[in-house]
Amino acid sequence: MATERTLILVKPDGVARGLIGEVVTRIERKGFAIEALELRTLDRATAEEHYAEHAERPFFGELVAFITSAPLVAMCVSGEGAIAGMRTLMGATNPLEATPGSIRGDLATRIGENLVHGSDSDVSAERELGLFFPGRF
Ligand code: RTP
Ligand code: MG
Repeated sequence: MATERTLILVKPDGVARGLIGEVVTRIERKGFAIEALELRTLDRATAEEHYAEHAERPFFGELVAFITSAPLVAMCVSGEGAIAGMRTLMGATNPLEATPGSIRGDLATRIGENLVHGSDSDVSAERELGLFFPGRF
């Protein structure tokens, strides 16, 4: 399995709930490496570009409003199979359907406040890392 890099976010709900350490701990205990980590508040343009694939969905406005509402933590996480591996560690998009033991399965209940983001493919990872950490990866 190839070494991969993926963009992981602790979304504003996770930061507000004091769960940065919990998420970072799970990533580290799994054995993935954190290559970059930054607390920041997203501007609207970056948020709209990040979620561009959802631009036509009914919840797009809420999604952008939420992700820009307060600070989040952006990370570059790497390791063998890190893209799919992090998606498994995070659990399903709807926390009520996420497997217990996963971040969303253990710690969240609402789809709009599901704590974390992880790139969903190698193409997404490259695009998203370029957006959040330009020129670095
Ligand atoms: P993410 O991009 O945040 O890692 O989440 P994901 O891949 O598991 O889910 P995705 O389909 O990309 O959706 C992005 C985020 O939009 C919110 N969402 N709300 N109200 C709804 O039906 C709905 N569907 C999705 C979620 O917060 C999801 O994480
Ligand atoms: Mg997604």
